[in-house]
Parts: sequence; structure tokens; C-alpha cells
Amino acid sequence: MLLRLTSLLTPDEIDRARALLGDDAPWIDGAATAGEQAQQDKHNQQIASDSEHSRRLRPLVLGALQREPMFLSATLPRRIFPPRFNRYRAPGEHYGAHIDNAILRDGSQWLRADLSCTVFLSDQASYDGGELVVHDRLGAQRFKLDAGDALLYPAGLLHAVTPVTRGTRLAAFFWIESLVAPEAQRRILFDLDMALVALRARHGENDETRALTGVYHNLLRQWSTT
Ligand code: NI
Repeated sequence: MLLRLTSLLTPDEIDRARALLGDDAPWIDGAATAGEQAQQDKHNQQIASDSEHSRRLRPLVLGALQREPMFLSATLPRRIFPPRFNRYRAPGEHYGAHIDNAILRDGSQWLRADLSCTVFLSDQASYDGGELVVHDRLGAQRFKLDAGDALLYPAGLLHAVTPVTRGTRLAAFFWIESLVAPEAQRRILFDLDMALVALRARHGENDETRALTGVYHNLLRQWSTT
């Protein structure tokens, strides 16, 4: 499932993020941080993850995630990899088609990447190119979202960032390990949760919504690993 989270970041948070992502920020070659992925067609820069800039940027994204019910419902997060920040500049910076690593290391902890998330930070009109292309069963889907919007997608999908031909594309990206590893089960829980939210909004809480909430939690109890 590909899911767009609209206005994940507020305009104020976007401004604060951009202020920390200027030319004076500790940018390093994206390929240098990527280990074996350096072999791939990766041409961008990232903020050094052990920098003061990173320490100030990460809470902007993590805080926004915690107040977004759609994110929590779709991902059922067990662990969230500390967000990273990157930029692609004209002319031509891009990231060729690749699949993200399955297992990531965050300090002494290991994390299985079940979902990937990209948060767009630049205004669409400020750059050309720089689309996030995700290949799913329907083919290649292209995304260029408004600043503050995010795209969630299964980490196992082939994806790329097309060359930026004008301006600069800023983004945050990170991975989520879910309490429910199988995508198909996460999808059922998400659909049930969203239907329940709509039912309650239309009819209020009643015996049936309480019963279905019980079904939701009992499925989650069966399928989750804590
Ligand atoms: Ni990737």
C-alpha cells in the first residue's frame, strides 16, 4: 500500500527544517554513507547524522508522526529509524532504481525496515524533476508532493529519485519496523481501523463499533510481535 500523509509537517516546522538545511549545514556525500549502496547510482547529499543539525531536525519529524493517526494506523510502529535529511541539486542529481536494505543498524539496535517514508520539504514549484518513482504491481508510480506531505510505501519496493533539473529538492527519509511485519495483515488492520473511524463519525459509538473494535484488537493480538 502506498499512502500519502497530507500536511504531516506544519508550515512553521517546514520553515524550521529548511533553515537547518541551508548551504552551511554539514552536508556529506550521500553515497559515502550508503555502504554497499555506494556502488549504486546514488548522487545526492545527506546531513551528517551525528551532527547538531541532525539532532535538531529529527524531533521535527518524529513529533509530527506522533500526532498523525493515519501514520500510526498504517505503520503500527515498533521502532522508527532516526530520520535522515537529504538534498538533490540541479543539474542532474538523482538516485537510480534500488531496494533499501532490509536490516538497518541504529547504534546498538537492529531494525527491520518494513516501511519506507519520504517527507517532502521543498515547494513543488521551486524545483523541476526530483520525482520519487515507486514500482509496485501497477507499474511505476511517480510522486512529487507538496512541502510537508509524506509518502509511505513498503520498503521492499524498487524505487528511484529522478534527476533534478532545476533548483534543489530537500526531503527527510526514514524506515519503520512494524509490530505487524506482513504487509497484507497491516493492510487489513488499516482498512478496519479507517472504517471504524468513519462509522463512529457517522453514528457515534455503539454496540457494533465496540464489537468491531474488539475484532481489531484481537487481530492485532494475533498478528503482532512486540
Ligand atoms: Ni531508497
